[in-house]
Amino acid sequence: MQPMASFFKVNLLLKVLVSVFVASSAETCSNSTFSLNRVYNSCSDLPYFGAHLHWNYIPSLRKVSIAYRARQISTGWIAWAINPTGTGMVGSQALVAFRNDNGSMTVYPTSITSYNPSMLPGELSFQVSNISAEYKHNEMTIYAIVGPLENGTIVNHVWQAGNSVSSNIPQIHSMSSSHLQSMGKIDFQKA
Ligand SMILES: *[C@@H]1O[C@H](CO)[C@@H](O)[C@H](O)[C@H]1NC(C)=O
Ligand SMILES: *[C@@H]1O[C@H](CO)[C@@H](O)[C@H](O)[C@H]1NC(C)=O
Ligand SMILES: *[C@@H]1O[C@H](CO)[C@@H](O)[C@H](O)[C@H]1NC(C)=O
Ligand SMILES: *[C@@H]1O[C@H](CO)[C@@H](O)[C@H](O)[C@H]1NC(C)=O
Repeated sequence: MQPMASFFKVNLLLKVLVSVFVASSAETCSNSTFSLNRVYNSCSDLPYFGAHLHWNYIPSLRKVSIAYRARQISTGWIAWAINPTGTGMVGSQALVAFRNDNGSMTVYPTSITSYNPSMLPGELSFQVSNISAEYKHNEMTIYAIVGPLENGTIVNHVWQAGNSVSSNIPQIHSMSSSHLQSMGKIDFQKA
């Protein structure tokens, strides 16, 4: 009786986990929808972390309105950054988001000045406005308007994810290859 009951419980748990994983890994550029009727004309499915970056470039302002979305567990954090001075982590001008102890999302800009950054809120080398974040269907999303982009629309960007946040400070991410390769070049003027 007991082993059978446990078997069914484990089996059910596995099914729930599988369905959660399938549901949460399914969203891509082609079928993402956003709260507040936000619509983005451009999108890039990024390798690693089930991430995708959506954007609208506003040429008159040289600003880009972005939505960065990635799969994540509730205790984790996500970040998306432009690196205006190089490639990779150091020098990145980042937006980071995670879920608070009280269940609401926290999101802020933070400048990554070293391989051991404070991850505390700070100023970036470009303006950021209309910043917000949400957590739905096992995905975290950062919304923001960045710019003016003084150095043009082609930028090096970096995206990252970590499993833990302690006292509202995102903790170090894994050093596995995906976490070291999650960077690229993007042209905001391309659809
Ligand atoms: C989104 O599209 C992908 C393929 O592009 C598909 O596998 C997935 O089921 C779709 N997800 C939703 C939530 O519609
Ligand atoms: C533009 O590029 C310069 C030189 O690489 C850099 O110092 C500066 O931070 C960049 N400006 C912005 C707004 O990113
Ligand atoms: C949740 O906690 C954060 C950080 O301490 C705080 O800024 C925010 O106002 C809190 N939200 C609610 C709904 O209590
Ligand atoms: C950005 O925020 C301002 C002030 O809240 C608002 O007036 C404006 O419509 C927002 N812009 C976008 C594109 O959401």
